[in-house]
Order: sequence, then C-alpha cells, then structure tokens
Amino acid sequence: MLAMVMQACGGSESKTVDGTVDGYVLDLNTPDFAALQQPGGAVKVTANGEKLLVIRLDASTCMAVSAVCTHAGCDLGVPASGVITCRCHGSRFDTSGHVLKGPATEDLAQVPTVLDGNRLTLKV
Ligand code: FES
Repeated sequence: MLAMVMQACGGSESKTVDGTVDGYVLDLNTPDFAALQQPGGAVKVTANGEKLLVIRLDASTCMAVSAVCTHAGCDLGVPASGVITCRCHGSRFDTSGHVLKGPATEDLAQVPTVLDGNRLTLKV
C-alpha cells in the first residue's frame, strides 16, 4: 500500500492518505479535496514526492500538472481565473500547463488522471 502526503491549496495542513497500486487516490467527498467537486476548483498536493496542481476542468474532467515552475523551480499556486501565475518572475500557464507568458519556455509536466464519480486517481 502506498502512502502520500497532501496539502490543501493555500494551507499549511498536511494529510497522509492511502493510495493503491494503481495510483494515488483523492476522495473528493473529503473536505481537503471538496474544491475539486466543482469546475474551476483546484488543490495542491504532493504525490509520490511530486508537487502537483490538481484542477477540475468540467463535469467529467480533471487535470494534474506539475506545481514547480519550469523557469527556475519556484512553487506554483492554484490557478485564478484559469491561469497559473508564478510569483517569482511572472510566468503564466494555462490549466493544461501550457506556457502563456514567459520567462518560462517549457510547459508544465502533465500527470494522467482518472475521474470516477468522486474518486480521482493520479497516475504518478
Ligand atoms: S521561477 Fe517561475 S517565472 Fe521564474
């Protein structure tokens, strides 16, 4: 059984959650991940040692991208109005991780996700 440490967006509280051999599972019924029940919601997690932004795009789709800026490695926060902005030097990315504005030139890495009802699996 795998384990992961997750951190809710903007907060300092960490949670340890059990995973499965198929990936890291977020139960969207729990308060830490309830933001992902609605389109536009997002949380910041660490899964398998990787910092990720998990974003609900629409009723049936979630996206997970690296939460580490490709310019110089600063931590990224959750998106606002569909844009992830790096506080260090102002790079901007869309919710799929594509660069909208530099100085970053590389897109954020994507992590496959599987959404099944209120159970989201990150294939980290
Ligand atoms: S580290 Fe993100 S823009 Fe420089």
